[in-house]
Amino acid sequence: MAGRIKAVRGMKDILPPETSRWQWVEQVAREVFELYGYAEMRLPLLERTELFARSIGQDTDIVAKEMYTFTDRRGDSLTLRPEATAQVVRACLENGLIKTAGVKKFYLMGPMFRYERPQKGRFRQFYQINCEALGSDAPELDAEVILLLLDFLGRLGLKDLKLLVNSLGCPECTPNFKDRLQQYLFAQEGWCEDCQRRRVTNPLRVLDCKSRTCQELLQKAPIMEDSLCEACAAHYDRVLTLLAGAQVAYEKNPRLVRGLDYYTRTAFEVKAEGLGAQDAVAGGGRYNSLARELGGPDLPALGFAIGEDRLLEVLPQEAGPTERGTVFLAVLGDAARDRAFLLLQEIRGQGLPAAMDFEGRSLKAQMSLADRLGAAYVVILGDQELETGEAPLRRMASGEQEVFPLADLAPMLALLARKKEGT
Ligand code: HAM
Repeated sequence: MAGRIKAVRGMKDILPPETSRWQWVEQVAREVFELYGYAEMRLPLLERTELFARSIGQDTDIVAKEMYTFTDRRGDSLTLRPEATAQVVRACLENGLIKTAGVKKFYLMGPMFRYERPQKGRFRQFYQINCEALGSDAPELDAEVILLLLDFLGRLGLKDLKLLVNSLGCPECTPNFKDRLQQYLFAQEGWCEDCQRRRVTNPLRVLDCKSRTCQELLQKAPIMEDSLCEACAAHYDRVLTLLAGAQVAYEKNPRLVRGLDYYTRTAFEVKAEGLGAQDAVAGGGRYNSLARELGGPDLPALGFAIGEDRLLEVLPQEAGPTERGTVFLAVLGDAARDRAFLLLQEIRGQGLPAAMDFEGRSLKAQMSLADRLGAAYVVILGDQELETGEAPLRRMASGEQEVFPLADLAPMLALLARKKEGT
């Protein structure tokens, strides 16, 4: 026998019943995004490698060692998207979406690909829910984007979240900070090998280093907040004031630099309990210079991405879609089977899930099938019911039974379902 083929390492199958929780999360996301005026974008999984190389930064882990890059049959270098922000900006520029004034708000959901070492909460194909707002530098927008994120996570029932914020400045003040940081990095000994390189090429990345020694050495390092220019300091201050006014608990974290180089000004992350080392469920920030770096005009913008896999991991057990109970039709005899087959469609026509057995099972076996399907209602149909034109409907949770005319059964069930949902 030929050997079985397994899924690629770090890539997982998401199967029912878990998929219904994913669908629910995405449904709630769509509803919340709509409240804040966002519209959906669906973009290709493949982009030109240069798009990510130019935007995320050559010296980031993502570009340096985590991209799924290959040459296609024409010789073009393509990359499976490791993130979506660069491609949202690309799509805006390419499709002329930002020609008119005003904020443009988009969301995007889908798989991302990074060749990272798989572990709890870290995959090579993972899913993100992205939010991007383009066209304004107003600090109100920063606060609103963060509120949207927290609103969404709250509606899912997520608790024990920690919001970390920082400001990364702008091209005017960041170089000044980089100089100060670099001086500090060269004045100290003991940095890990990566950081010895980073302190030359991209000193901000040192702040992000996971090595304990480097983190200890960083305790006394200069912080960005002290180097912010007047405009950036005012922007940061206003964002924090708005958050405080909206009763948002945040923690300032001067070492928060994020793993991508395009950020300017506000940067933030949401961490959740129970995820271990990979505890960021969402991250984002401003990227005011990105459109220009991609050949476009100045376009202040910000956004975030939620890691859906991690989100699902910390979702409370009780959170999920309200089940619309299945109606199971149990039959005795061929005539009843034929009537039930039509009734099945009538019930589905009312928007309710319905099932029956096609394998000629005994009544007892049909009842255990109904059980396995978690049926909320069972109707038993035999010759007698066909003759009288009425059948008993059993509510499985309580065992109560009520007799209905067959012709009314489907609309009656719809009525019962609406009552249960309270509409
Ligand atoms: P990021 O911090 O690289 O940001 O990713 C956002 C979230 O995606 C993380 O907080 C995490 O929950 C999830 N994530 C990242 N890598 C993995 C992985 N290997 N396995 C599972 N989950 C993962 C961005 O991607 C930016 N584009 C966010 C953004 C949007 N900034 C502005 N707009």
